[in-house]
Amino acid sequence: MSPLNEPHADAPTQVVAIDGPSGAGKSTIARQLAEQLGYRFLDTGAMYRAITWLFLERGVLSAEAADGAPAREALAEASLRLQGGRVLLNGEDVTQRLRTREVEAQVSAVAAMPSVRARMGELQRVVAQQGPVVAEGRDMCTVVFPRARWKVYLDAAPAERARRRCDEFQQRGRAVVEAQVLAEILERDRRDSTRADAPLRRAEDALYVDTTGLAADAVLDRAGALPRTRAAFDALKADVGANAAQLSTQADAMALIAKTSDEVKNALNALQGDVSVGFADRDARIGGVETQLSQLGT
Ligand code: DC
Repeated sequence: MSPLNEPHADAPTQVVAIDGPSGAGKSTIARQLAEQLGYRFLDTGAMYRAITWLFLERGVLSAEAADGAPAREALAEASLRLQGGRVLLNGEDVTQRLRTREVEAQVSAVAAMPSVRARMGELQRVVAQQGPVVAEGRDMCTVVFPRARWKVYLDAAPAERARRRCDEFQQRGRAVVEAQVLAEILERDRRDSTRADAPLRRAEDALYVDTTGLAADAVLDRAGALPRTRAAFDALKADVGANAAQLSTQADAMALIAKTSDEVKNALNALQGDVSVGFADRDARIGGVETQLSQLGT
């Protein structure tokens, strides 16, 4: 069985890890998937942006100061909290500042600092220890959560990523030139994937989804098929447990099978149809669950 089909058995917590370059649609997909699964959404890019903002404000980004004592002090003192889509840095809501040109121009350099990466990785693992998360960034699958239950790599053609970024900027009232946005994206990709510490790369066991030309719903169907299938199985198992006491007749058991196995079949069919990974033993799995259920009723 390929690693794509099975959750990592020793995963410490339920983590859906999503990586990919900027503009691949990670935030949109991760946010919606978190909502569907009832997991927390962890936007790690926002964390790097917040620290970049802090460094800019403290003036510790000059060549001599970068990754030196002033930057390390600012980092050590920083308290960073993500709350319902807002980012609080040292108690101040900095959400609006994270997408400014200044931050955008410096964030790759800040994200390349080993001390910053080490601290962000620690904070990200703390969040995941508190409960299930959908975490998106550049090194979720490879470095921060190598044993994540589910791994996804989202990608898209550079021109499309630039177009999406332009749309975002325009929605926020910022006039931009698409060719320039494309050049900036390519430069950021280059820096993010060539840095020494935790460069952006696709984990071998991540599901690869090329989102070029796909609407968000279609991407969500593909990227979410595996964790949703798992959630359907979990719900089914819980259902079996909860109903065991009332299953006094075979008919009751069969009614329950009819209701719940459809849910699982649908999830598996979606998986089979939407994602080009095989689920060779899906019929056996459905059969196994049905047998378990029918045994409860006899
Ligand atoms: O996803 P984003 O555009 O908000 O990310 C901002 C920057 O932070 C980007 O240049 C890459 C960097 N980053 C990173 O190095 N590691 C992460 N896990 C997330 C983001």
